[in-house]
Formats: sequence, structure tokens, C-alpha cells
Amino acid sequence: MSFPKKHLSDPLLSHKPYTPGIQPNFTERVIKLNTNENPFPPSEKVREKVLSEIDSLNLYPNPHSSTLRTCVANLHNLSEDQVIIGNGSDDLLNLCVRCFAGGTLEVGMLAPSYSLYEVLASIQGAKIVGVSFANDDFDLPLQGIAASRANLFFLTNPHAPSGKEYGLADLEKAIENFSGIMVIDEAYADFASHNSISLLSKYDNLIITRTLSKSYSLAGLRVGYALASPALVSVLDQAREVYNVDRLAQAGALAALSDRSYFETTKTQIIKLREELRIEFDHMGWRTIPSGANFLFTQPSRQGDSGPDTAADLYEFLFDREILVRYFPQNQLTESYLRISIGKPAEMGILMDRIKEWQTQEKRK
Ligand SMILES: Cc1ncc(COP(=O)(O)O)c(C=O)c1O
Repeated sequence: MSFPKKHLSDPLLSHKPYTPGIQPNFTERVIKLNTNENPFPPSEKVREKVLSEIDSLNLYPNPHSSTLRTCVANLHNLSEDQVIIGNGSDDLLNLCVRCFAGGTLEVGMLAPSYSLYEVLASIQGAKIVGVSFANDDFDLPLQGIAASRANLFFLTNPHAPSGKEYGLADLEKAIENFSGIMVIDEAYADFASHNSISLLSKYDNLIITRTLSKSYSLAGLRVGYALASPALVSVLDQAREVYNVDRLAQAGALAALSDRSYFETTKTQIIKLREELRIEFDHMGWRTIPSGANFLFTQPSRQGDSGPDTAADLYEFLFDREILVRYFPQNQLTESYLRISIGKPAEMGILMDRIKEWQTQEKRK
């Protein structure tokens, strides 16, 4: 029996919730390349700090995540009042929508990009304006962004799901020609060749969001942060839940951020594996978008065929062999591609073996 509609708020009446990638009950056999998690465990230092915090769980956490703010500020050579910490970067994206959208204040996003933006806007009853790409090169649609007239725009860089990295010149054009609040979602920036932090000193309508879910192997702990002008941070702080980052998360995040050598080693290895996989796809003649992220967006082909049927066929072939990747059939620009997260070296080996097996199979009529 469904819940009586008369009790629901207007936005919720037409709301469609977010669909996350499959999170299987963990079995040793599943190779999970569908939600861009880091295949390596967190730094050993995280375990120590999280364990040592357990005895203090009777006490509320620091409501400002003060030590973590200082640590992030130091990491990026910013001041503490330019940093806010969230329960994953999703929490910060949500704060942006709460503060800057609703009523006549519309939300803009690249279409396709991270589908949570639409979900957050919808809960807030805000209209969403999707700015499409001209083609599957995923070049930044600068004119569309400027013309969107949104009050808040989510620009994902590196872009998801394509992995495409936008240059600083393009990003500056996007910000300069947009009169609202520009959020650059840098969830994957640690795997990219550059980031937009230098733009913070130039633009006071810019918010950059980051996550520890990907490059710091902490998707399960839920920590992200946003960087912006002190004035913007204080607005976001007003809408934040008081204790939005729990004790274990604050302690674990501090430990992960402090272990620079583990971060550098694992990040470098993921980038190396990504480039090796890309070369293999290139050799097979697959069109793959150059990636600045921890995943590849590639158009599978078999015996000269590519397109939605081929992509769906490989997705199912891999699924049946307990290899999870992501397929986005809902959009013309993505329906012929698969998004494959970078896993451990052995997992990449098994993936390639299965792909080669698939390629030699008779295609279905
Ligand atoms: C573009 C983008 N932004 C944000 C997130 C969410 O990150 P978090 O785990 O910090 O909430 C993701 C997660 O996949 C993402 O792809």
C-alpha cells in the first residue's frame, strides 16, 4: 500500500529518487567497476584513527569539523573560512541547492552529467535546466551555459560519465559569462592533470566541491568538502546540519588527508592502470574519451559493430560473469558506451580476458 499523497509536499509528489549503481552483497567473486570507487583500501592510518575514536562516541562531534577544515585549507593554501566539510560531497551539493535554488531560482547542469543534481533540485521544487552537448566529444557547451539563466549551475570537471577534462580557459569563460553561482564538481580532480582551485581568488561566485570517496578510498565513510569565498562558505554553513560529519568520519578523513605518500602511490597506480586500459581499447579500435578520472568511457565494438545493442550486449555478458560496469541507455550520447571504473591490476586482467572472449563470440541475431 502506498503512502497517502495528501500528506506529501508538492515537490515530492512528482519526485523521482536517485538510482545508485548496484551495490551487491559483497562476494569475493564480484569485480565491481560500476560506481567509481577506489579499488584499494584506505590508508592503514585511517584504521588506527577511527578505532581510537570509538571510545569517544558518547560525545557529539565537533560541529564545524574545525581540525579538518584547517587541514583542507592547508592542503590547498587557502584560509579556513574558505572551507566547509560535508557528509560526502553529495551533502555539499545538496546545501548548494537548498541555498541557491527553488521558486524562480533554477538549477542548471550539463546533460548528461551526475544525475543526483536533478534529484536534489526536484526535492527542493526547483526547475532544472539541462544544457546538452553538441556531440559525443563532450566539449563544454559554453553558449548553452551562458544562456541557461539558472541561478546555480553544476559543472562537472572532469566530466562524468565521459571522464573528459576541461581546460582552465574554457572554465573561466563559463564562469565569466554566467551571472549565478557556479559549482565546479571536482569529485575526480585528483586523477586529472589540473584543477580550478587557482580560480577561487578571481571569482567570488565560484564553489568547488571535492570528495574523499574516490582518490582517498573513503566512499564508505562519507566525507567531502567545498571551497569558496568566505562569504559563500558562511551562507552554506547556515543551511548545514549541525553535526553533519560524525566523529569517525572526521578522524578517518584527517588520517587519510595526512598520509600523502599513500595517497600519491595509489592515485599514481590508478592513473597508470587507466592509461594501460585505454591503450588496450585503442588497439581494439574502441572509441574512448581521454579521461581525467578513475574510469574510462568507451564505445565497445565487435566484428565491426558498435552502438546501443553492442554496448548492452557487453554489459550483460560481463554482468553474467560477475563483472559490474555501468551502462546509461537513457541518453543518445551515452547509449553506445560503457563506463568502466579502474580496478586492481588483477581485476583489469580478468576484465580484458572476458572482453576478448566476448569479441570472439558470435553476435546475437
Ligand atoms: C560527479 C560526482 N560528484 C559527486 C559524487 C558523490 O561523491 P560523494 O561520495 O562524496 O558524495 C559522485 C559520485 O559518484 C560523482 O560522480
